[in-house]
Amino acid sequence: MENKVLSILDTRTKTGYEMPLYNGTVRAMDLRQIKTGPDDFGVMTYDPAFLNTASCQSAITFIDGDKGILRYRGYPIEQLAEKCTFLEVAYLILFGELPNASQLAEWVDNITHHRMLHETTKKFLEGFRYDSHPMGMFISTVAALSTVYPESRHVHDPELRKLEISRLIGKVPTIAAYTYRHGLGYPYVYPNDELSYTENFLNMLWKMVEPKYRANPVLARALDILFILHADHEQNCSTNVMRAVGSSQADPFVATAAAAAALSGPLHGGANEEVLKMLDEIGSKDRVAAYVDRVKAGHGKLMGFGHRVYKNYDPRAQIIKWAADRVFEVTGRNPKLEIALELERIALEDEYFIKRKLYPNVDFYSGIIYQAVGFKPEMFTVLFAIPRTVGWLAQWQEMLEDPEQKIARPRQIYIGHGQRDVIPIEQRGMEVSPSTK
Ligand code: CMC
Repeated sequence: MENKVLSILDTRTKTGYEMPLYNGTVRAMDLRQIKTGPDDFGVMTYDPAFLNTASCQSAITFIDGDKGILRYRGYPIEQLAEKCTFLEVAYLILFGELPNASQLAEWVDNITHHRMLHETTKKFLEGFRYDSHPMGMFISTVAALSTVYPESRHVHDPELRKLEISRLIGKVPTIAAYTYRHGLGYPYVYPNDELSYTENFLNMLWKMVEPKYRANPVLARALDILFILHADHEQNCSTNVMRAVGSSQADPFVATAAAAAALSGPLHGGANEEVLKMLDEIGSKDRVAAYVDRVKAGHGKLMGFGHRVYKNYDPRAQIIKWAADRVFEVTGRNPKLEIALELERIALEDEYFIKRKLYPNVDFYSGIIYQAVGFKPEMFTVLFAIPRTVGWLAQWQEMLEDPEQKIARPRQIYIGHGQRDVIPIEQRGMEVSPSTK
């Protein structure tokens, strides 16, 4: 994009400023020179929830939210989902180019050899209550890996970084599968080197006493596609956390755990679980219209609808709908699909949703597939976290290599009391402060 200059006139001082525009943005630090006098701090930007602030430059993921476009490293998501495996896409996201055959073989071999968990980590997992939420177990266990690999704190060593990236991508499915088996009281299944990334994951989840569990190839491929769709999504809430925590030079295990914690919230990756709860609450197709009216009246939100960036159909939701049809050929149709389709139909014709440009997002249909495949809703966000680990790590690495990045530390506008003196406790009034109510 051509760089131009923005002219600003400070009407307080009648002073004009020329601000260079960098890729259509003003550098916030350039605003500091706009002052009313030598003691003035200078102009700052105020942008709660980062609605209009670019926090970094990135060459990983491109989104055009108005047109519904998503690309990783320039490749359209539709082509990647159709033609590549998840580990190929992971390589692309992390290293910038699609691998050739020998690079891919080496990469897959590398990840395959990092699938095992240390036995102490397995024991750590055994300590959770039987009914613990899988996402809580996932977050804590990823953080605990930091104690197993203390050298990971040397975040500026590129070779060590590469090793920790492989470890994390290799181990997150193992941790996820163990959280699932733990909840059911089943023995853990060790990784199997003969199986692909997703086949091995399904094996670790569902192998019982049969000598060889063979995942249905249609379901394994559908999961692979879902993993591709979830692998990165530029500066979303959890990625922002990954970058912020990583900017303090914390190790990648605790930074990934922090990002996963951000993902777990119902407005982010936790939405897929909430969608299923919502569909259960609606119960049947004929009750959809009344539910939508309730949402419009301000009672809750349509989970799986809306997006900060997409003001058009989320391209991932389109692909998921396609994948759902393939899955249902194997599993039979999930009865919740009828309710979801009716919900989408009504919402997309409704003025409230049209005006606010609210479309189904990635989480709207993913849960319906996951449930048809056999997952409980509590596992859905863990299934999101496995592939997103790739995006988090790519963004973390990019942040560490960016000479402009420093420890993330926003400013604030202080709106509290001016200075006041502490009075002895017996002289204080009886008013209860809001924080102790
Ligand atoms: N249902 C009903 N109304 C909605 C919804 C929804 N799902 N989402 C937004 N709105 C309304 C919102 O109330 C507001 O209305 P008004 O202008 O009258 O105040 C308007 O639309 C703009 O919404 P916003 O809250 O300012 O938008 P945001 O960019 O801050 O929030 C969002 C984006 C994804 C958090 C939000 O749309 C939402 O809560 N959706 C439901 C949860 C969900 O599906 N999250 C998954 C997001 S995609 C995958 C991921 O990132 O994990």
